[in-house]
Amino acid sequence: MRIIKVKNYEEMSKIAADIIAAQITLHPQTVLGLATGSTPIGTYERLIELCNNGDVDFSQVTTINLDEYCDLDPTHEQSYRYFMNKHLLTKVNIDLENTHVPNGKAADIDAECKRYDELIQKKGGIDLQLLGIGHNGHIGFNEPSDEFVMGTHCVNLKESTINANSRFFNTTDDVPKRAITMGIKPIMQAGRILLIASGDDKKDILKKALFGPVTPLVPASILQLHKNLIVVTPLDL
Ligand code: GLP
Repeated sequence: MRIIKVKNYEEMSKIAADIIAAQITLHPQTVLGLATGSTPIGTYERLIELCNNGDVDFSQVTTINLDEYCDLDPTHEQSYRYFMNKHLLTKVNIDLENTHVPNGKAADIDAECKRYDELIQKKGGIDLQLLGIGHNGHIGFNEPSDEFVMGTHCVNLKESTINANSRFFNTTDDVPKRAITMGIKPIMQAGRILLIASGDDKKDILKKALFGPVTPLVPASILQLHKNLIVVTPLDL
């Protein structure tokens, strides 16, 4: 694990974007694993800037997102498809056909999970996976549980996650209770993982995840076993 300690959120975002941009420049056909949440917004802003300046070219890039709420239409402002289009995908020169988010409105959720795993496999896996971390140590929507779940699956969100994400909705009741998330296997099989975290409220869980026991009760703790994990954070660990 390599920890890059930065001054603040802005520097974290700049360094994370530069790492992603360098990956794309070296490997134009990169498969990028992408994340939502407030943490990566600055990274996406900086990537858009780099793209507008001609410093990075997304034309051959494929993106595969970690997760999506069940039962939200992709046009819903809080769906992760909407988030990704708004914060990155429609603002860089990527072919939207090459951008993938699970379909949370699929009639057959199990079939959708299977399709997503097959898609990841067909693309040859993820080259660089960007990750944030939830307050309970979740990655994507892999919530604390008794075991690590390998493949894409549907999860019942924990109350703490629903509460944390309720800031984006009118009321807590509006937050979907279920989501589809990529499992631990494609994340751990990614060539490189880039974990970003900022805000004092993330300090304890980040410490636990990076230096505590590896346990499905803290899903992000499995990242300790990845051979190429880069953590960029302003937090004192
Ligand atoms: C959501 C996403 C995660 C993200 C987490 C943290 O639950 N599914 O991928 O890492 O929130 O979000 P934030 O960056 O807003 O703290």
